[in-house]
Amino acid sequence: MASLTFTAASLSDTDRLGAALVQVLPDCFTVGLVGPLGAGKTRLVQAMAAAIGLPREHVVSPTFVLCQHYEARRTIYHMDAYRLRDDDEFLGLGPEEYFAAPALTVVEWADRVERCLPPDRLMIEVEVLGDDARQFQLTPHGEIACQALRELQTRLTSGLAAT
Ligand SMILES: Nc1ncnc2c1ncn2[C@@H]1O[C@H](COP(=O)(O)OP(=O)(O)OP(=O)(O)O)[C@@H](O)[C@H]1O
Ligand SMILES: [Mg+2]
Repeated sequence: MASLTFTAASLSDTDRLGAALVQVLPDCFTVGLVGPLGAGKTRLVQAMAAAIGLPREHVVSPTFVLCQHYEARRTIYHMDAYRLRDDDEFLGLGPEEYFAAPALTVVEWADRVERCLPPDRLMIEVEVLGDDARQFQLTPHGEIACQALRELQTRLTSGLAAT
């Protein structure tokens, strides 16, 4: 499957995308977020956290702690590669353990460490279109990601994501 483009006109659309991602992505799965400062990468993770039952305020960019752990109806690991010097520094955080855990792992600035990510993963590129408008381009790598993206597309177009 090719990429899927989702245009968010507002924060509530981003919340809808985050909720749909939590519904379709399995455990032991990794999402890579790419996009400039302030694009909305952390805001999308907040939407995912809200969908597992955590207050959005719990989610901040893990720039300094390097990996946050959110646990509610599901588990999310939230990493940020922005301040890492190179692949070795990222690998030093032991990401393999997170990738293999029964959790969703989300990595901001994933383009910086893409070679270290699992081969089956979903890459999401965030682009700023306007004050509240964002474009999310979702590109699947591997069969699990393709299957999840097909389901995501169905949910987003049928409105099921909001339920
Ligand atoms: N539709 C939208 N989706 C996501 N964020 C939005 C949207 N509309 C406005 N925003 C705002 O854009 C900002 C995105 O900031 P955020 O911290 O998520 O960026 P980031 O990509 O994580 O940046 P950084 O690389 O610095 O971590 C927030 O202030 C958020 O409220
Ligand atoms: Mg961020």
